[in-house]
Amino acid sequence: MHRTTKSCCSRWLRRAAALACAALAALAAGCAAEAEPQVLRVGVALYTQDDTFIASIAQELERLAREQEQTGGVRIDLSVVDGRSNQTTQLDQIDNLIGRGCDALCVNIVDRTAAAVLIDKAQTAQVPLIFFNRQPVAEDIFRWERTYYVGARAEEGGMLQGRLVLEAWQADPALDRNGDGVLQYVMLEGEPGHQDALLRTEYAVKTLTDAGVEVEKLASDTANWKRGQAMARTLQWLEELGDGVEVVFANNDDMALGAIDAYQQTQRPLPLVVGVDATAPALEAVAQGQLYGTVLNDSSGIARSMLDLVLALGAGEDPAETLPLEEGHYIWLPHRPVTAQNLEEFVS
Ligand code: BGC
Ligand code: CA
Repeated sequence: MHRTTKSCCSRWLRRAAALACAALAALAAGCAAEAEPQVLRVGVALYTQDDTFIASIAQELERLAREQEQTGGVRIDLSVVDGRSNQTTQLDQIDNLIGRGCDALCVNIVDRTAAAVLIDKAQTAQVPLIFFNRQPVAEDIFRWERTYYVGARAEEGGMLQGRLVLEAWQADPALDRNGDGVLQYVMLEGEPGHQDALLRTEYAVKTLTDAGVEVEKLASDTANWKRGQAMARTLQWLEELGDGVEVVFANNDDMALGAIDAYQQTQRPLPLVVGVDATAPALEAVAQGQLYGTVLNDSSGIARSMLDLVLALGAGEDPAETLPLEEGHYIWLPHRPVTAQNLEEFVS
């Protein structure tokens, strides 16, 4: 009796073990059949969130990532951090992102001369690194084969802005307010040292002088991409220069809008004002006839290209095979001029 119970027990145990094994095997097979979607963890480091253009790239990246999940079967886990314009803060944030484990990094670097240390960190951790909008020097970009830059060519933005002014100047003699045949201008510059501040300033003016227009710079100063600072600077110039300004060049739209704010506040007649970016408030100002024109800096294109790079790298592909990668490292988004004439193409 006792013995029977014992052998019965061991038979039961063997059977239970066999059933458990079968269940585990079935579970494993089931897992393979209905695989969880692939997850790509992407760290996104912004130089600051407090920047209209950068905020629009981050927003678009979020939107595209959600869209990709619906259609592409890949889950994209974005961790966005705000560097608050401090390179030390941003480096800590990136250490943290790497430490938590990520498949790619998208970096809008605070100080573009500090890229080398970041590239070395990413290479050590073997995390592909995509810089955007704030462009490190080529020597840094070529430091490691999985370093990329996504953005727009700074000199092209300046050239197109200059061309907008050139065409307006040639078409409308009334723009020469004092009738001396010389174009008197002021220049609102972005952050010192930023490629877009340096090259937009240079190429906007060069486009005019190359076309034979005589220009006179009445004033120029940095307003650090900011609307408030640009308004303050312009108010000061209005006191000093009165209505002598014929064209306000601004390296970006926020500063162009700041200049317009100053003219409106003092109720002085607006000169020709031009910006760069084609942000939503700038398009609105073009529609209202306050901002003469702007140049599209393609925030959606930048976000799309970064995501495409992340997806290609995540799938273990060589991005050069499917993406318009130049020199193995760069994706360039073209600028486009915007005025009241073609505004509808840009308002969504
Ligand atoms: C944009 C600015 C922006 C800056 C930030 C430039 O390309 O035109 O609006 O503030 O990038 O890096
Ligand atoms: Ca003049």
